[in-house]
Amino acid sequence: MSKKVLVISSTLRKNGNSEKLAQEFMRGAKDSGNSVEFISLQDKEIKFCKGCLSCLKTGECVIKDDSIEIVKKMKDADVIVFSSPIYYYEMSGQLKTLLDRANPLYTSDYKFREIYFLTTAADSSYNASNIATSGIKGWVSCFSKAQFKRNIHAVGVEAIGDVQNNLAMEEAYKAGKGV
Ligand SMILES: Cc1cc2nc3c(=O)[nH]c(=O)nc-3n(C[C@H](O)[C@H](O)[C@H](O)COP(=O)(O)O)c2cc1C
Repeated sequence: MSKKVLVISSTLRKNGNSEKLAQEFMRGAKDSGNSVEFISLQDKEIKFCKGCLSCLKTGECVIKDDSIEIVKKMKDADVIVFSSPIYYYEMSGQLKTLLDRANPLYTSDYKFREIYFLTTAADSSYNASNIATSGIKGWVSCFSKAQFKRNIHAVGVEAIGDVQNNLAMEEAYKAGKGV
């Protein structure tokens, strides 16, 4: 069955490694007939959550910036794929900010059921994505109808283009195909 797949790339670096990994996932998901939408956080204005919690009553954030549209798309997707560079062994700040601003989803009738997390780091150890993955798992655990599917992590990639021949590219394509 065809699924609605939303891919959110959080690197602010043009042609970034994690964005390339996200594109491979997308290519796989499209090849198996899913409907795929891509959002890059580059050039998006996403302010910090103020913690007012009025979204729990109104279903929408009081801060009117680009997160409003992105959060609506998150709500309607069957599958959400986040991609992030590893920054100080965590997810990027811009992705964390988006997750906080997605708080209106908490009490909503969200459709998403599966979450993937794609990461890239300079470190040569696969453990380099563990802390960031644990953060995404924490977010997913707040949405009982959704499950964390998997983290695909590219090791040893630093400069733009380093990810090109990384094993994770094939893994991302296959995971996308199997969505
Ligand atoms: C601020 C900053 C912090 C970083 N922290 C780490 C880190 O903790 N561990 C690591 O292995 N790589 C770290 N890196 C390297 C990036 O994770 C790596 O270059 C990654 O491939 C960038 O992905 P992108 O091209 O999609 O932005 C850091 C890079 C930056 C700019």
